[in-house]
Amino acid sequence: MFARTDEVKVLRDPVHGYIHVDYEVVWKCINSKWMQRLRRIRQLGGAFIVYHTADHTRFSHSLGVYEIVRRMVNEVPDLKNALNEREKVTVMLAALMHDIGHGPYSHAFESILRDSHEAYTCWIIEQDPEIRGILEEAAPGLSKDVADVIRHASHNPILPQLVSAQLDADRMDYLLRDAYFTGTKYGEFDMERILRVLRVADDKVVVKESGVYAVENYIMARYHMYWQVYYHPTARAYENMLRKLFLRLRDLNKEGKCPETIPEFNAVIRKRRLTLQEYYMLDEYSCTYAFEVLSRGSDPVAADLASRLLDRRLFEYMDASSENVRRIRSLLKKEGYDPRYYLGKDDVAQSPYIPYTGENGSPVWVRMHDGEIQELGQASNIVWSLVHGPRHNDDRIFFPKEILG
Ligand code: NI
Repeated sequence: MFARTDEVKVLRDPVHGYIHVDYEVVWKCINSKWMQRLRRIRQLGGAFIVYHTADHTRFSHSLGVYEIVRRMVNEVPDLKNALNEREKVTVMLAALMHDIGHGPYSHAFESILRDSHEAYTCWIIEQDPEIRGILEEAAPGLSKDVADVIRHASHNPILPQLVSAQLDADRMDYLLRDAYFTGTKYGEFDMERILRVLRVADDKVVVKESGVYAVENYIMARYHMYWQVYYHPTARAYENMLRKLFLRLRDLNKEGKCPETIPEFNAVIRKRRLTLQEYYMLDEYSCTYAFEVLSRGSDPVAADLASRLLDRRLFEYMDASSENVRRIRSLLKKEGYDPRYYLGKDDVAQSPYIPYTGENGSPVWVRMHDGEIQELGQASNIVWSLVHGPRHNDDRIFFPKEILG
């Protein structure tokens, strides 16, 4: 038995109306320092620089994912009946803390760090004295159970599917939340309908055949959000500049002359594993301060890149044709810019839905009228076309606008 709060605590949320908390252990975790740190980390990597209202944080997203899972285990009859109280509390906590190990600037910064945010998430849940203490006090072994859901190693295969698969609470919340805070309508879909058609069949979370349209709508929302928000070339320009700044800092460090920043950057620059104490200090507030220090520093390249990030003087972008690359490279050299730090390149591709299991989790399963379980690509023509159509990719180069004259 898990202790309940005296009354149900409700937190207003523009996406879900209210977030409901009625377990003590959940409330204590929300008020822990690691959860509160997520208030200092935005949900969107570089896209906040494109959409001026998209300053929402990992904290509000985490509460949203928790609320969706709370509703799933209380309102979807198959889940309500299939799971015991400990499993319900475990999966709600995993939803709440699934991003607790996220660093600043989302995946752009993660590519600079030595360890993944999932690794930090599990370390924090199992090793941070406060979080571990709260969980173990509520039920011995709970911290491992919660981390196991995040590692997809749970004793009950249903639990990870609720938090992270292809039709999961994490994706449902971030699509709806990012659509709301960017002001784009592409990410909207009928979550209420999806919750109504969820069922459980042989350890699998499935949707009823009659719910396929709602799921198609969700897959299309995902497709549009990727291309309009997450992979927006301007957002990628910001992320590219961030990586270039750290490339410069690493090169300076190799030459034995690293400019003054914040202590936490030293570990990042040396690609050493950050201790949890160092990682705790690394948020978007401390990074902004570090950029301010660098912008006044002695290295002209680091100072320039840092002030560009602060003042939103972003790189221009173009298709990465070999002709463009040649032309921009020679212009950069002519104007005295080192292409190593001033010519970025990235190629993004995205599949809104992957029909097989593996690294990306399980496919979406559909229970047909006759009881047969089919993979979504088989049950939906639209999804079949997306999976078998040409792969959409976007290959760009990024460079300072000024060189174009
Ligand atoms: Ni998330």
